[in-house]
Amino acid sequence: MACTKCHSAAPHADKRLNDHLASVSCQACHIPQYAVERATKMTWDWSAAGKDLPITDPHEYMKIKGAFTWAKDVVPFYYWYNGRVDRYVPGDQIDPRQRTLSNSSRCLQFRRSCGIMSICS
Ligand code: HEC
Ligand code: HEC
Repeated sequence: MACTKCHSAAPHADKRLNDHLASVSCQACHIPQYAVERATKMTWDWSAAGKDLPITDPHEYMKIKGAFTWAKDVVPFYYWYNGRVDRYVPGDQIDPRQRTLSNSSRCLQFRRSCGIMSICS
């Protein structure tokens, strides 16, 4: 749900803050950390599954699922995002006179979560 579902699109008494809204998301300023109350799962290593390890805490290891790590008070990653998923790959040409993907975007924050898979051959 968007913040502006409930709050106005220019919610600040201070005009300088409202002037940032075209390029900075609400979340980027207002949510500097996440998992503040309880830890969140950061990594899931599937390749560790299937082993008989002496770890009994199911938050750290489960034979059928693999190994996990957790963290609290996590600082998000910040990227430019325009609400669509697209990408540049090496060699793609851009026209500097046109808007590019990145300059039509706003700064948004992301939760990064990593998974390691085992590849069978
Ligand atoms: C479902 C409705 C709703 C949504 C969605 C929502 N808010 Fe709120 N927000 C409220 C209400 C209600 C209050 C309490 C207002 C009050 O006490 O006057 C509040 C309070 C706040 C306050 C504190 C205001 C103060 O005066 O201390 C901030 C900051 C805030 N919201 C930011 C956000 C941001 C950023 C988002 C999006 C990530 C968001 N809100 C999404 C309803 C919402
Ligand atoms: C550039 C950073 C920044 C962005 C972007 C931002 N805020 Fe804020 N916001 C602040 C700061 C700093 C305050 C505290 C202002 C103060 O205490 O005078 C604040 C205060 C508020 C308040 C409390 C009312 C007030 O004037 O103190 C609300 C509600 C709020 N923001 C909602 C939002 C919503 C909704 C968005 C997105 C549409 C948003 N903010 C985007 C920095 C930001």
